[in-house]
Amino acid sequence: MNKNIKINKKRLLQRLDELAQIGALKDGADAPPGFGGVSRLALTDADKQARDLTISWMKDLGLSVQIDQVGNIIGLRPGEEELPPVMLGSHIDTVTVAGRYDGNYGVLAALEVVNTLNDNDIRTHRPLGVAAFTNEEGVRFNRGMLGSSVYVGDLSVAEAYAIPGIDGSNFGDELKRIGYAGEMEPGSIRPYAFLELHIEQGPLLDQMKVPVGVVEAVTGITWLEVTVTGSANHAGTTPIELRRDAGLAATKLIEAMREVAVSIGGNQRATCGMIAFEPNAINVIPSKADFTVDLRNSDGEALAQAEEQFLAYTKKVEKSDGLTISIRDLEHVPPVNFDPMVLDIIEASAKELDIPVQRMISGAGHDAQLLAGMCPTAMIFVPSRDGISHSPAEYSSPEDLETGANVLLHTALRLANQKE
Ligand code: GLV
Ligand code: MN
Ligand code: MN
Repeated sequence: MNKNIKINKKRLLQRLDELAQIGALKDGADAPPGFGGVSRLALTDADKQARDLTISWMKDLGLSVQIDQVGNIIGLRPGEEELPPVMLGSHIDTVTVAGRYDGNYGVLAALEVVNTLNDNDIRTHRPLGVAAFTNEEGVRFNRGMLGSSVYVGDLSVAEAYAIPGIDGSNFGDELKRIGYAGEMEPGSIRPYAFLELHIEQGPLLDQMKVPVGVVEAVTGITWLEVTVTGSANHAGTTPIELRRDAGLAATKLIEAMREVAVSIGGNQRATCGMIAFEPNAINVIPSKADFTVDLRNSDGEALAQAEEQFLAYTKKVEKSDGLTISIRDLEHVPPVNFDPMVLDIIEASAKELDIPVQRMISGAGHDAQLLAGMCPTAMIFVPSRDGISHSPAEYSSPEDLETGANVLLHTALRLANQKE
């Protein structure tokens, strides 16, 4: 294949810019001047608008578009033969206050690959697919990678529909409300291979000044919701030893989570990203505290150990503080290793283009870690400035975005022209 075929950087950046206008924040926290953030939680009006725009681009490029029962969007470009497609994709939902690259880059670079093939009149042996998966972030509906989990059969459509939103909404109702409960059976287009191009969201490539990461593995993720129930009482009159303070117990558990992570070491992470007290009043001892636990480790056994140690600590606090503590499992995604054949092809494509690469693992969750259970899969990373992500300050240079998309193009071409 002609290595001189290149994606159009300007067009890729234009689409990124246009998509970032949907749900754009005026003055996103931490945003550099003139560089606002984006807020596009799954299945909101903004998400619907972004989906509509993405689909209009897919159709302009001649893709046949299908929506599955959980709103995953798949655009197909025919190959010379009716074979399973090489699928490229990611997500277009964002966290609450986000940058413009997380997920969006992978979907729009996939569209740019199709655009480039169209411009050059290239027909691949196998079809190409472009996928945008629903609710990857899991912020509004606390099940990350929801769309891809359903796509590969790890979660049923009915289970997905029943997932509550943090705003009192419900996944199924919201999907129907925005008109994205499609007909297609999730997973019915089984890819020949799946590739996800993404920003690194960590500091490694930026520090090493290497433009492309070849992602060999993705961390495992455990999400829990903890509810501590004590009793409300007067902040001034209740002696310390008589309190059943749900707020205090929650803070002990959050501290314990960190201690567990430090004692396990390696790349164990632990985060409490959400907390809510009831009744949430300045002079009332909290009767209830609800908080989330995000544990991650690329070593599945260590991750299970972290969860076990944390749960043991909740039992201890339950006793010592005279409270009840209940735990709800939100998500358990094991770590995955990507496919060696696909990794080699990414590396060979980069080498042909004279692009240095670094093999690495991902600490962020990605749809690709679900797709890996269905077909040969791997990921390509580009540098994130200062390793910042899930923030409006997220930034990857136009040159790096271009480089990553060219590696995606040539990897996709090689895979799509594989005869068997
Ligand atoms: C998704 O971005 C995650 O890693 O939580
Ligand atoms: Mn992402
Ligand atoms: Mn993300």
